[in-house]
Amino acid sequence: MIKYLSKTNVKNLKGVAIARLDFNTEDDWRMKAAIPTLQLLLKHARALVILSHKGRPLGFQKQFSLRPDAEKLSGLLKHDITFDEKFNFDELRRNISTSPAKSIFVLENLRFVSMEKGNDKSFAKNLASLGDYFVNEAFAVSHRAEASVVGITKYLPSYAGLGLEKEIINLSRVMEKAKKPLIMIFGGAKSGDKLAVIKFFRKKADLFLIGGALANTLLYLKGTDIGTSLFDEDVNEMIKNLSSDESVILPVDFRRQGSKILDIGPQSEKLFASKIKDAKTIVWNGPMGLIEREEFKKGTLGLVRAIISNKTAFSVVGGGETVTMLKESGLSDKISFISTGGGAMLDFLAGKKLPGIEALK
Ligand code: ADP
Ligand code: 3PG
Ligand code: MG
Repeated sequence: MIKYLSKTNVKNLKGVAIARLDFNTEDDWRMKAAIPTLQLLLKHARALVILSHKGRPLGFQKQFSLRPDAEKLSGLLKHDITFDEKFNFDELRRNISTSPAKSIFVLENLRFVSMEKGNDKSFAKNLASLGDYFVNEAFAVSHRAEASVVGITKYLPSYAGLGLEKEIINLSRVMEKAKKPLIMIFGGAKSGDKLAVIKFFRKKADLFLIGGALANTLLYLKGTDIGTSLFDEDVNEMIKNLSSDESVILPVDFRRQGSKILDIGPQSEKLFASKIKDAKTIVWNGPMGLIEREEFKKGTLGLVRAIISNKTAFSVVGGGETVTMLKESGLSDKISFISTGGGAMLDFLAGKKLPGIEALK
């Protein structure tokens, strides 16, 4: 059984709370999503220790330092924060135990230490020694068996944060009781994780609307000239099968630059919208085109408008680039649930067990 923070009498949790967050986004939307949990902890705990990673650094790299994130968080919480970059655990324990009540500590990027990724026992034990209980509020990294996600739970009472709980509830709703028609929409550059979800939902979803690199690959297999467009190099049996699957809907026109397909075209927007309007459940991950360029953002924005025009469907959206764009568009509050997960959301929806969630059981 997962221990949920929301169902725990937090007042009885004495001492220092350790919270695992995920600061691994260009903007601060994942950080903002963790604020309610941090405020709840801060109300009752004597002090708060925050752990996170950013990027995939090998050793110290300034661009991946969490110092700016600690400053941003301090602004959001309107609370002083002590940033610690040394991983000197004896000194840290001393500083935490002698700190004034309600102190907040943010540790430097855990992935600067190779023991984090390696789920090293002694590192996990050292992290655990900084507090009295642990809260996972980092759904986005819960598919990684790392020291601050999995290892640490062996040494402390461990709870699921408010945001992690919402992820489990909303994504489970898609897994277990999605109202039909269920339409899944996939785009983006990385097809691998998305293919795993399509595989799991192959018989359960009614339609798959495809854009991005995967669409290019499927179009190529059907004989369309995709020029030098982005596509998947290793075409496996499953992709071949998808190209002749009637439940897979591909774009019918494109916005190109030279021979490169960089977005779906207006007819495809209409086609996708005509399918989306009848859905009762919508799942979307991955942009339809090269959204970093204004002229190739149109197809994805059209998709957003189609999703929010369907006022009765339960809609779930995730993916790093996808959500960043959605937030920028100012339309994100019209989506039923925005997952903070990229790979984690896709693993969950592919029916895989997430080590960070399993560790809370
Ligand atoms: P997400 O982060 O939302 O999960 P991915 O990481 O898989 O999605 O891919 C996002 C990237 O895919 C974006 O940077 C976007 O520019 C790129 N992309 C989507 N379609 C195309 C395309 N047709 N050509 C080039 N890049 C594309
Ligand atoms: C993410 O951004 O998806 C998470 O922070 C996990 O990052 P990772 O793929 O580098 O483990
Ligand atoms: Mg991405």
